[in-house]
Amino acid sequence: MMKIYGFCVFSFCYFLISNGVQVAAFKDQRLRTNVSQPYRTAYHFQPSKNWMNDPNGPVYYKGVYHLFYQYNPYGPLWGNMSWGHAISYDLVNWVHLDIALLENEPYDINGCFSGSTTILQNGEPVIMYTGLDTDSHQVQNLAFPKNISDPLLSEWVKPSLNPVMSPPDRVDPTQFRDPTTGWLGADGEWRVVVGSELDGHGSATLYKSKDFRTWIKSPSPLHSSNKTIMWECPDFYPVLVSGKDGLDTSVQGKDVRHVLKASFNDHDYYILGNYDPTSDRYDVDVDFLDSKWSLRYDYGRFYASKSFYDSDKKRRILWSWVNEGDTDSDAFIKGWSGLQTIPRSIWLSENGDQLVQWPVEELEKLRTQKVHFENEELKGGSMIEISGITASQISHLACQISKMLSAEVVDPQALCKQKNASMSGKFGPFGLLVLASKDLTEYTAVFFRVFRTANNFRVLMCADQSRSSVRPEVDKSIYGAFLTLDPQYAKISLKTLIDHSIIESFGGEGLACITARVYPELAIGEQAHLYAFNNGTQSLSISSLSAWSMKNAQIVSTRKRRKPII
Ligand SMILES: *[C@@H]1O[C@H](CO)[C@@H](O)[C@H](O)[C@H]1NC(C)=O
Ligand SMILES: *[C@@H]1O[C@H](CO)[C@@H](O)[C@H](O)[C@H]1NC(C)=O
Ligand SMILES: *[C@@H]1O[C@H](CO)[C@@H](O)[C@H](O)[C@H]1NC(C)=O
Ligand SMILES: *[C@@H]1O[C@H](CO)[C@@H](O)[C@H](O)[C@H]1NC(C)=O
Ligand SMILES: *[C@@H]1O[C@H](CO)[C@@H](O)[C@H](O)[C@H]1NC(C)=O
Ligand SMILES: *[C@@H]1O[C@H](CO)[C@@H](O)[C@H](O)[C@H]1NC(C)=O
Repeated sequence: MMKIYGFCVFSFCYFLISNGVQVAAFKDQRLRTNVSQPYRTAYHFQPSKNWMNDPNGPVYYKGVYHLFYQYNPYGPLWGNMSWGHAISYDLVNWVHLDIALLENEPYDINGCFSGSTTILQNGEPVIMYTGLDTDSHQVQNLAFPKNISDPLLSEWVKPSLNPVMSPPDRVDPTQFRDPTTGWLGADGEWRVVVGSELDGHGSATLYKSKDFRTWIKSPSPLHSSNKTIMWECPDFYPVLVSGKDGLDTSVQGKDVRHVLKASFNDHDYYILGNYDPTSDRYDVDVDFLDSKWSLRYDYGRFYASKSFYDSDKKRRILWSWVNEGDTDSDAFIKGWSGLQTIPRSIWLSENGDQLVQWPVEELEKLRTQKVHFENEELKGGSMIEISGITASQISHLACQISKMLSAEVVDPQALCKQKNASMSGKFGPFGLLVLASKDLTEYTAVFFRVFRTANNFRVLMCADQSRSSVRPEVDKSIYGAFLTLDPQYAKISLKTLIDHSIIESFGGEGLACITARVYPELAIGEQAHLYAFNNGTQSLSISSLSAWSMKNAQIVSTRKRRKPII
């Protein structure tokens, strides 16, 4: 143990997890309290150290949430890819288990890449993942739990029939990866799609199987687009036409539409369409990059996401990797790199033209001190401090909007760059200054500007990182998104999750999401402040504002059985 942990101080304890399963665990106190770790998060999922990227195969099994993730056991940069594994009973507190998949077979010797978990008809979970084989070709492999009675699914076995798919003709063998969760078609056979570059374009290669072991490629892909490059981490799932309930991946029907997500150009784009489970035809409303304004899950730093169906709470949950905006040498100083977003429930919006996301309700368990006020007037050009809470917090700001300003609609990111928080309009900019130093040398502005169009309100939402840190070397992108509001509501809301170096913002009750990563040097720990500001000429009324300090989530590690993972 000393060899692994060096000088670090750990306390050993038994954590009694909610349903009574006892897990021997170490609580990592160093990383949570060390002031030289100002960017370490308190309630987001991350391993104790080293590199993580894509969420893999999230699944709910026998009362336990499982998250696997791309993990380098040996360092804080990408490499030696394996599947890290953690479990939770509430999606908030986590226990790290041993690595689930290591690169150790000819068909994955150069890496165990992303994939998904599917629950078969007999209730047995199976992982399908991409292996990088001895020729550095990408192939798809299976892994089964060693003991299906073990709710922790702590050991996985790779069957001798691997690989089950090799790169087909016209598909670049180095661009064939990230199989989806399986779904059943009308003929009772399984389907999965694999992200591919087909003739140089993004494609979801479709495969079918009777037994999930032997796979036959379908003549045509489920979907492809010659406007895009290689699709990573495709996701294909049903959503209900109305209501917030999620659907299991095989559900079809009249009141169901299908979402196809693909990761490319550093973003997670999605399209909506109708899927026919007999012909496997997928007719899309508006294809990837076909409109000026392409739908994305998040308009900030957010990539390689994956969703899964939570059969316990009947919801679909979305996870994503959020990478760092600092440098590789910072990764070595921190000893880690990469986070997961707070899991988000996801459903179709009321008018059916986009998805809506909201942090899972379980997160509220971590709330402590609360600040709340109502009907506070925020005059044009003014600012108020929201004090009495600490930097790691959740805040919710709701503003009543009355008079609207007309303006042309242009590219939101360009508009956020062009019109920053100090450029006064009639209605806005207004919003929050997050992780702000007392003298406002550092702050990240999350704000709105409101425009009127013929029938509704167009709201520009910005997350401006340009003043987020005095450190010159960190990323300071300015992110922007539009949301459309029905004038009858005349209300804009913002929910922002702030956690040391990550700011996840949900505008308009989850219609537009922007995730930012910031690295303040002054606005850290107790030195961080939070303000509400209005730099428009028109005054507005904050109908209600609540902010809570957040407790640390418990993210602990089990005792090593095989390979050390922390
Ligand atoms: C805090 O972290 C720094 C850098 O990772 C390390 O050098 C230092 O020893 C740590 N302090 C404690 C008390 O663990
Ligand atoms: C991969 O692991 C080996 C040890 O097995 C290590 O020497 C190497 O530096 C690692 N690569 C990365 C990128 O971490
Ligand atoms: C399988 O898991 C169950 C439940 O955790 C446990 O009781 C049983 O001993 C395990 N079987 C083996 C062979 O490890
Ligand atoms: C791109 O795809 C569209 C629609 O499938 C097709 O009409 C067009 O010919 C394709 N263009 C190229 C260059 O392949
Ligand atoms: C806002 O933009 C103007 C014009 O580009 C620039 O001069 C000013 O420094 C910016 N202000 C902030 C707070 O970034
Ligand atoms: C609000 O506008 C004033 C005047 O232009 C400017 O000094 C201040 O920095 C602005 N606030 C923000 C958050 O940009």
